[in-house]
Amino acid sequence: MNKTPALTPQFINMTRTMSNNGTGTAGIQQELTASLLKPVATLSPKFFYDALGSRLFEAITLLNEYYPTRTEAAIFEAHNAHIAQAVLDAGIQNSCLIDLGAGNCAKAAALIPYLKPNQYVPVDISIDFLREAASQVQASFPSLSVVGVGMDFSSALNLPDGVQSHDRVFFYPGSSVGNFTPPDALRFLQQIASPAQGNACGLLLGIDLVKDAAVLEAAYDDAPGVTAAFNKNVLLNVNEQLGADFDLSQWRHVALFNLQASRIEMHLQAVADTTVHWPGHERAFKAGERIHTENSYKYTLEAMTALLKEAGFRRVEHWTDAQGWFGVFWASK
Ligand code: AVI
Repeated sequence: MNKTPALTPQFINMTRTMSNNGTGTAGIQQELTASLLKPVATLSPKFFYDALGSRLFEAITLLNEYYPTRTEAAIFEAHNAHIAQAVLDAGIQNSCLIDLGAGNCAKAAALIPYLKPNQYVPVDISIDFLREAASQVQASFPSLSVVGVGMDFSSALNLPDGVQSHDRVFFYPGSSVGNFTPPDALRFLQQIASPAQGNACGLLLGIDLVKDAAVLEAAYDDAPGVTAAFNKNVLLNVNEQLGADFDLSQWRHVALFNLQASRIEMHLQAVADTTVHWPGHERAFKAGERIHTENSYKYTLEAMTALLKEAGFRRVEHWTDAQGWFGVFWASK
């Protein structure tokens, strides 16, 4: 019997070096130096995701306290068929599923049997992590065209040739859009809604919703200390990228809900006066001084619907869980 031979995944690396943020070593060092020398030092959350950070994030998603991953998965499980129908109703067929921040590709792999895309494009800043995961998806769906793209899409979403230019379904689960400030989230969503992505195009988005501060704070400061390790690991990555000498024992993890800004903030707080050195620079921190490492904005269903419409999507629908803790949105043009 003739069997169609299995396709092999293709990989396109748009990052300029093997480093994990794609701006090149000098670019990374300039960016890190500038952010560490600001009056209130910051580090971009993209520096969380070195090899260890990516594994720690996977561990976070399994924590009892970190409800977003399992809540989102349950929403998809309950509504996969409705979601696939909504995509078809938007006139999208033979789709190209573009998985932004694909990581281990597990969420898309669960969706593929329902959406039945023509092409699957996992995109991630960490190409090495992607290679293994995308190859596993290819093995599970041998006739699916799989094109893995290594790129930092946080500032510009310019996908390479080789990615199907029509019937694009962007998939951005996990509330990752919550890690942008609202104005940056709007700019990001506008890029997906833009005519450059084609007319038959939509966005499947997972968003963490506003809820009790105690539930939110526990999710970002779990009892086993996995999120603390994830937050502190950014300093090891900075030591590696910059040749800095952060001593992790001098820093503690802080997570708090800023009600006014509707965001969880993560910080690293110096436990004592400490000075950090790296080639050509140093920064002294007083005891109690913080480095701001992440914001995770929480939206209401209404606020996210309004943001998607402002970005240029004409139709927006959503599904949620019984507690109203998490929302899955489908936005089309
Ligand atoms: C990736 N992102 C959506 C996570 C979040 O919940 O903001 C990152 C994270 N930070 C700490 N825990 C999880």
